[in-house]
Amino acid sequence: MGLKRSVAVESAEGKLGILLPGMGAVATTLIAGVVAVRRGLAQPIGSLTQMGTIRLGKRPENRVPMIHDYVNLADLNNIAFGGWDIFPENAYEAAVKAGVLKQDLLDQVRDEIEKIEPMTAVFQQAWVKKLSGEHVKKGESKMDLAEQLMDDIRAFKDKNGCDRLVAVWCGSTEVYRRPTEVHSSLAKFEEGLRNSHDDIAPSQIYAYACVKLGVPYANGAPNLSVDIPAMIELSRQTNTPIAGKDFKTGQTLMKTILAPGFKARLLGLDGWYSTNILGNRDGEVLDDPESFRSKEVSKLGVLEHILQPDKYPELYEGFDHVVRINYYPPRGDNKEGWDNIDIKGWLGYPMQIKVNFLCRDSILAAPIVLDLAMFMDFAKRANMHGIQEWLSFYFKSPQTPEGLYPEHDLFIQLMKLKNTLRYTKGDDLITHLGAEYYD
Ligand SMILES: NC(=O)c1ccc[n+]([C@@H]2O[C@H](COP(=O)([O-])OP(=O)(O)OC[C@H]3O[C@@H](n4cnc5c(N)ncnc54)[C@H](O)[C@@H]3O)[C@@H](O)[C@H]2O)c1
Repeated sequence: MGLKRSVAVESAEGKLGILLPGMGAVATTLIAGVVAVRRGLAQPIGSLTQMGTIRLGKRPENRVPMIHDYVNLADLNNIAFGGWDIFPENAYEAAVKAGVLKQDLLDQVRDEIEKIEPMTAVFQQAWVKKLSGEHVKKGESKMDLAEQLMDDIRAFKDKNGCDRLVAVWCGSTEVYRRPTEVHSSLAKFEEGLRNSHDDIAPSQIYAYACVKLGVPYANGAPNLSVDIPAMIELSRQTNTPIAGKDFKTGQTLMKTILAPGFKARLLGLDGWYSTNILGNRDGEVLDDPESFRSKEVSKLGVLEHILQPDKYPELYEGFDHVVRINYYPPRGDNKEGWDNIDIKGWLGYPMQIKVNFLCRDSILAAPIVLDLAMFMDFAKRANMHGIQEWLSFYFKSPQTPEGLYPEHDLFIQLMKLKNTLRYTKGDDLITHLGAEYYD
């Protein structure tokens, strides 16, 4: 039995526009993939909104609808894609360059995806040192650039006949910066935009433009974006859902699957060494120590929060956690991750686990972008504004309200997500208690 309260959710009818700042490997793998799925050429594997089910009521009732039938989500056939990039290539050309999907599949969707051309970007090389591009807006101030982005958003909506919009940042990882005074309130941030304050990153200008217009915004990279007080304030003011940050895909996904298992069995941890080789543009950007620092910070928090060394000092106090990413061009988008995990069992006896994950970064990320777009649109229609913590499932470093530690355990995150959906429908939350079967 659980808390029952159904929430009025506006209909998902009409067209949803998905805006992607950054149209590189992840974004084009999503776009080409959605068109391929629509045409029956492939399956949306990895997407909870397309393939997932949700159990309702008690086990003998056998009620397990598909999530997209249970809650009212946008129809895959009624989606338009748009975005921005510092390079002018259309989605087909960019997908060919990214080299994630086979040419044969790209050719079958080419007619549709080559029409998707990026709008000119807001970019400053100081924030992504390894990149430079010409397809970039000029403006008198950062506020002027934000206004140009807002014009783009309105024009995209009109041109494509969209009823609603969402945005998911798929742009490069910016350099690591802590929030400063200019991020501390909306008034200071807007003043900073007008003065072109150095501490305002391009990604924050996109976030501002979207949230100001009430467009839900999810951040797929580790840099600060909507997780600053100014943007949280704006999201409240405009009733807009926000979420972040950094898509949880390869190695961190594995960590948040394995670590809850060790903790459940009270196996100790002496150390976890993770290294990767990656050869795509993301890998090149992360080769810059300042961009890598953003990634490192987002990756390192995971184990501490899951293992709770303060509660289990004999098992987890002082474990070593090292994360490395090495740019190695021949590997392309097919990242290889190695993990060496030193665990300990009964009477402190040591054991080792080695994980060698030959993954495909963008193949793992694309369904996450789709689900985030679908659920952020749902959140907006359900009037759920501000931080969408129930979507922590998708992030390496989930954004939470101040003072609350993030939940990293994948299984708790999934339960939270599904219970949120049940709650919006006024159904019983699933507790897995099951005592009633034995009464
Ligand atoms: N693929 C994964 O598994 C994964 C997981 C977590 C996070 N991410 C993050 O997702 C993002 C995208 O990854 P990717 O593999 O597609 O990288 P990518 O380099 O292929 O694509 C990023 C694109 O963003 C563009 N860009 C950079 N700054 C921009 C700006 N200010 N405005 C508009 N466009 C801009 C670049 O030109 C590039 O085309 C990266 O930040 C990456 O760290 C990816």
